[in-house]
Amino acid sequence: MNLHLPAGDAALVTEHAAAKINLALHITGQRDDGYHLLDTLVVFTQAGDTIRAAPSDEDRFTLSGQFASILQADADNLVLRARDLIRQLRPELPPVALDLEKSLPVASGIGGGSADAAATLRALSGMLDAPLSEAELSVAALSLGADVPMCLASHPLRVRGIGESLAPVRGLPVLHMVLVNPGMAVSTPTVFGSLLEKQNAPLPELPGNVAFSDLVDWLRKTRNDLQHPASVQVPQIGQAISALDAAGAAFSRMSGSGATCFGLFPDATAAQAAARSLASRSPAWYVKATQTI
Ligand code: C5P
Repeated sequence: MNLHLPAGDAALVTEHAAAKINLALHITGQRDDGYHLLDTLVVFTQAGDTIRAAPSDEDRFTLSGQFASILQADADNLVLRARDLIRQLRPELPPVALDLEKSLPVASGIGGGSADAAATLRALSGMLDAPLSEAELSVAALSLGADVPMCLASHPLRVRGIGESLAPVRGLPVLHMVLVNPGMAVSTPTVFGSLLEKQNAPLPELPGNVAFSDLVDWLRKTRNDLQHPASVQVPQIGQAISALDAAGAAFSRMSGSGATCFGLFPDATAAQAAARSLASRSPAWYVKATQTI
């Protein structure tokens, strides 16, 4: 990372851009503009990207981390779109040096780009004398992408609409999981576009204060409606789920529009052991043991 600042500079703001996991995702309808309505239970993990921001002599943007080489530091990057949006809303924003440490696989159903955008909004808003209100942040987030508002919140949520209707979910246990990505990017519009059934029932009610085994029972009554169309596009998704099951996951499923899959484990030791075995069997895959925040 090169922010052109001495390490430990007090003006440096660091924001965690947590991976978003859709534990269950039902498609409940479609709007006239083509966007799909969903009902989804999302959680966020310690695994994530990192955004660092600091005032600078001019705007800079650097990329670092495991998956940095896949991304372009161009104006389409959601970090820069988030910066430009904040500057449009608050022209007094000084020039900033931004670094994105890209640790999450790209275009992988765990909201990496959306989390980066949300973390940038939070970081830059926090650097202003007059930060954006929560309402302003939500509107700005939605204009950057359907998943960005949920990533601003970063705690367990029931999300409806196209991603703008958020309700906090309390009483979930900490979930220990392994994330597996078979190294194939999935096109979100293609997956949504190949959905055959668009009017599914919403998620069943989730009881409060669920134990791990209750949550797994509940998850078995739910689906990710995007898993089938994504698996047609990327057959390795099925292999990732089978591998998680074989490694002892109590429950496994694809997140978002894929291709990242998660397996739930009863504790951190079991998740870490499964991650080691999966990584040694499939060295080309992204494999990460983590837990919810
Ligand atoms: O909003 P975002 O840029 O993440 O969405 C990418 C694409 O995925 C959209 O252009 C749309 O084709 C599809 N999509 C959808 N319904 C959603 C979210 C995304 O159809 N709720």
